[in-house]
Amino acid sequence: MLQNSSILANDNLSVAPQAAPASVQKASLPPLQDAFGRTFDYVRIAVTDRCNLRCTYCMPEEGVEFKHKDSVLNAEETMRIISVLAKIGIKKVRFTGGEPTIRKDIVDLVAGAASTPGIKGVHLTTNGLLLHRYAKDLLNAGLTGLNLSLDSMDADRFMRITRRTGVNTVLDNIQLALDMGFPRVKVNVVLMRGFNEDELEKFTAYTKDHAVTVRFIEFMPFDAEQIWGSGDHFASAESIVARIHSLYPDVGPAPGTRTEHHIFKVPGWAGKIAVIPAFTRSLCGNCSRIRVTADGSIRNCLYSDDEYNLREVMRQGGTDDDMIALFRKAFADKAIDGYESKKRSDAKVSLSPHRGSMTQIGG
Ligand code: GTP
Ligand code: 5AD
Ligand code: SF4
Repeated sequence: MLQNSSILANDNLSVAPQAAPASVQKASLPPLQDAFGRTFDYVRIAVTDRCNLRCTYCMPEEGVEFKHKDSVLNAEETMRIISVLAKIGIKKVRFTGGEPTIRKDIVDLVAGAASTPGIKGVHLTTNGLLLHRYAKDLLNAGLTGLNLSLDSMDADRFMRITRRTGVNTVLDNIQLALDMGFPRVKVNVVLMRGFNEDELEKFTAYTKDHAVTVRFIEFMPFDAEQIWGSGDHFASAESIVARIHSLYPDVGPAPGTRTEHHIFKVPGWAGKIAVIPAFTRSLCGNCSRIRVTADGSIRNCLYSDDEYNLREVMRQGGTDDDMIALFRKAFADKAIDGYESKKRSDAKVSLSPHRGSMTQIGG
């Protein structure tokens, strides 16, 4: 089976246009590490918990309790976090949500991150519905990667999964991003039995003429308890990889990021195909991710409920060193993998809120 072992050479860390000279890009302090020797240099910042879709595998149609505006970090706080993290070696920033393009200041956030000394890549994960409004400005602001979520190319099914219309807008916006020359355009497909698994071939074939990486993601139980328990919708990375091999026996290895644990390319095709073992978690050994929720808590693992309240440290006048100390504490506590994180969270009555949906955790 092809596995992503040579990835570290290509973790989307290209130089942003406004990056500072090499002399000031060096992290001045020891890097952020955990007890298992992993180094964390990639921060995923959720900039809102709101969204203009209602994906069934993510949040319910109604009754979602969104954070009060005052508890969501403002642009200044977000920029402070990024520059503090840059001091301890963080090089890659991803803005997620909810849906990050709902933030009116998303272009400013990208520009600010891209011009922070030490930050070499600024990425966005979006559902793509509003991309046409911001694409040009995002590119000019220094965005170095764009991950678009699209789970079906069929209008009725898109509606069934997202509870909204818009499939053609998303497809047009993927094309727009390619036409505009965006670096690293990726399409995230959560592959689920009984929903869209029959579109694997169509999505794979899309990489023939489109220079995108189509990434099949394992469904995870962060669906606000909507469909995970309602039947057998899970498709394992292993089974997806096996299907890719049987459909395209001549696929070969390709470079990818740490999340792209399995990554292939059909010889001669424009794009790549990746499979992300988000649930089976074989990617944990390569983890380099720090998560900051929209309300300013640090999370050291997608599967951990533990939160470290950075917003309070900042709002109570904490120094940059206080913030760094909280990051170090969070990562000193990090478990060896997502299974252990989940086990620990289940075992204790967590003081942190249990966040059942990806929009609350930040993808
Ligand atoms: P690249 O930097 O382009 O590789 O993107 P990414 O995969 O880090 O970011 P994206 O927002 O596109 O995330 C896609 C999916 O990857 C998420 O929905 C998760 O399913 C999965 N993923 C990302 N980070 C983690 C993680 O720390 N653990 C697990 N289990 N899955 C993750
Ligand atoms: N399982 C797997 N992936 C999910 N996402 C949202 N909810 C889930 C879930 N329950 C994905 C989105 C997006 C990424 C940030 O998270 O499709 O691509
Ligand atoms: Fe919105 Fe993404 Fe959740 Fe879908 S998965 S409802 S696009 S935050």
